[in-house]
Amino acid sequence: MRSLVVSPGGSVLSEGQYQASNSSSEEFISLCEALSSLLVVKDIVLNVRQIKAATFFGSGNIALLKSLVTSNNISLVLVDVNLSPIQQRNLEHEFKAKVIDRTGLILEIFGNRAKTREGALQVELAHLEYQKSRLVRSWTHLERQRGGIGFMGGPGETQIESDRRILAEKISKIKRSLDKVILTRHLHRENRKNNRIPVISLVGYTNAGKSSIFNFLTNANVLSQDMLFATLDPTMRAFKLLGKKEVILSDTVGFISKLPTGLISAFKATLEEVINADLILHVIDISHSESKFQALEVEKVIDELDWEGKTRPPILEIYNKIDKLKKSQLEQLRVGCSNSQEPILLSALSGSGFQYLENKLRKLLELTTRTETIFLSFKQTKKRAWLFEKNIVSNELVLNHGFSLTVDWSKEQKSIFRKISST
Ligand code: GTP
Repeated sequence: MRSLVVSPGGSVLSEGQYQASNSSSEEFISLCEALSSLLVVKDIVLNVRQIKAATFFGSGNIALLKSLVTSNNISLVLVDVNLSPIQQRNLEHEFKAKVIDRTGLILEIFGNRAKTREGALQVELAHLEYQKSRLVRSWTHLERQRGGIGFMGGPGETQIESDRRILAEKISKIKRSLDKVILTRHLHRENRKNNRIPVISLVGYTNAGKSSIFNFLTNANVLSQDMLFATLDPTMRAFKLLGKKEVILSDTVGFISKLPTGLISAFKATLEEVINADLILHVIDISHSESKFQALEVEKVIDELDWEGKTRPPILEIYNKIDKLKKSQLEQLRVGCSNSQEPILLSALSGSGFQYLENKLRKLLELTTRTETIFLSFKQTKKRAWLFEKNIVSNELVLNHGFSLTVDWSKEQKSIFRKISST
């Protein structure tokens, strides 16, 4: 689909809309390119001095865009702001082409990436909620079975008027299904809690290298590509830290600046693992020119999660992609980090820093458990079986009268263990 990308700039945006970063337009183009069906034919940054309520852009800019649409045979115009439904519709009439704003684009990408049932349901829900305010063109989206490239097909806008009721029904049905999926997930989490397996959650700006680190640590083969939002659903996998302590690592969707608040709540369940994690690893692409800004954006989103009085887990920062830094930059970083020994410098590509990371993780997680040596007679088979079932034995010696076991356990596990009958 031949597309034109428009990034509005200008002083007015810092008040009414946003003007977060210089590389905003570059990032928006990367987002567009994440959809393989789009062909970005042209991109332009326009100076917007005053936002027009009806069309967002003023008449001069509209005339310019119209001529670009015609001369480049454009069928889709992507605008890097959040447009009101009226603005979107009016611009479509002006350009005689589809217009997608930032939220619309992110929803399309999320739709393309959702892999699990929960992810797909969340995207569908977010999409429907978004469309509720845009009934002028929602029929196209109602036609879709799942997220992704929804703006490119459909029977048109003829049945629009009958949409409202269908939308409401669809939304409540999806909410019911989501409740069920979330309940199942909750039960799994409770199960993990009972077994006291600590959960580490990877968060980070999109493309920071979370999936690569996840792969390196778990040897899992999770999709990792140089494409924004390669991961939508949290992927969880158990692995043994330093070959010993079992932990669960969860990968999450990449964060991005200006993620609309409505989307954050729709994707809350996706980030639920972050709220319930024992430790958060914040992955930062230190080679990126906007790494500071990106890190702040991630922190902001973490702040916006629904903590509901829960204690926040500690956050450990990881500076990834150090292999891309010049020697002098790396040395400077090392000096800066030497006092606190944080953040951790890492390269998911070369593997450098992982040994240190694993040691650090083990130390941090040990805060919740303690290592003790206990003795069991040969007859205490139930107790011994329970320890192995819980995966908390780090060493066992067979002695003349029984076993000497080194266990790595929590207070709760210790008290459960005491209640198990001896035979
Ligand atoms: P999202 O799914 O978009 O949130 O991305 P992510 O944070 O999971 O990033 P991912 O692991 O998919 O990595 C993004 C790109 O960066 C891939 O092309 C990786 O190969 C590359 N990459 C990851 N870590 C490193 C690193 O340490 N050094 C270099 N040079 N490239 C890396």
